[in-house]
Amino acid sequence: MRIRRAEAADVDGMIASYESVAAEGRFIGGELPIDEAAVRARWLERMNDPTEALFVAEADGAIVGMAGVRGTEIADLGMHVIEGWRGRGVGSGLLRAVIDWARAAGAHKLALQVWPHNAAAIRLYAGFGFEQEGYLRRHWRRKNGELWDAVIMGLPIPENEAPAALEEPPGSR
Ligand SMILES: CC(C)(COP(=O)(O)OP(=O)(O)OC[C@H]1O[C@@H](n2cnc3c(N)ncnc32)[C@H](O)[C@@H]1OP(=O)(O)O)[C@@H](O)C(=O)NCCC(=O)NCCS
Repeated sequence: MRIRRAEAADVDGMIASYESVAAEGRFIGGELPIDEAAVRARWLERMNDPTEALFVAEADGAIVGMAGVRGTEIADLGMHVIEGWRGRGVGSGLLRAVIDWARAAGAHKLALQVWPHNAAAIRLYAGFGFEQEGYLRRHWRRKNGELWDAVIMGLPIPENEAPAALEEPPGSR
């Protein structure tokens, strides 16, 4: 298993991986049916955007997980690992890649949302130092009409917290 930046040739495998997790209907925000053309276009765009990064986990030539991170100040992330590859360190590898990217990009914080019932994901994030910072009640509409709560988690990146040099020191006027 190898974690690396996603390339254009990975997109079909990424879509298959994403759809298999969406089909489970209880872990990620995305639900079937996925608009494949729109997702493909968005991911190809994201691969060329210096303010974002997409990572894949590849095993035996197949994509078994992926993570996306967006933003060089507050870096928002999302990720998944396909069923059958969970519990083997893939998620940890992807999350480490995302954190390293965000730190190098200068982000002062990582942020994410997770369903309250997603105990595996919450434990993964907590293991990397993420803490709960908020709780959204009856927030996201599901395709079956239900409104689901979401937990907001964050991870500060202290070495990037100092303000960038100001043109003028505050209070100088
Ligand atoms: C959450 C997810 C990404 C974790 O990936 P993974 O490859 O299974 O995680 P790892 O094997 O690297 O495990 C890392 C840690 O996660 C936690 N974890 C993983 N599976 C767990 C489970 N079934 N129950 C409780 N904790 C679990 C543990 O803290 C684990 O550390 P440990 O092995 O030292 O106990 C994966 O389960 C997944 O993709 N689930 C479906 C999609 C999803 O939930 N995405 C996140 C949306 S916010």
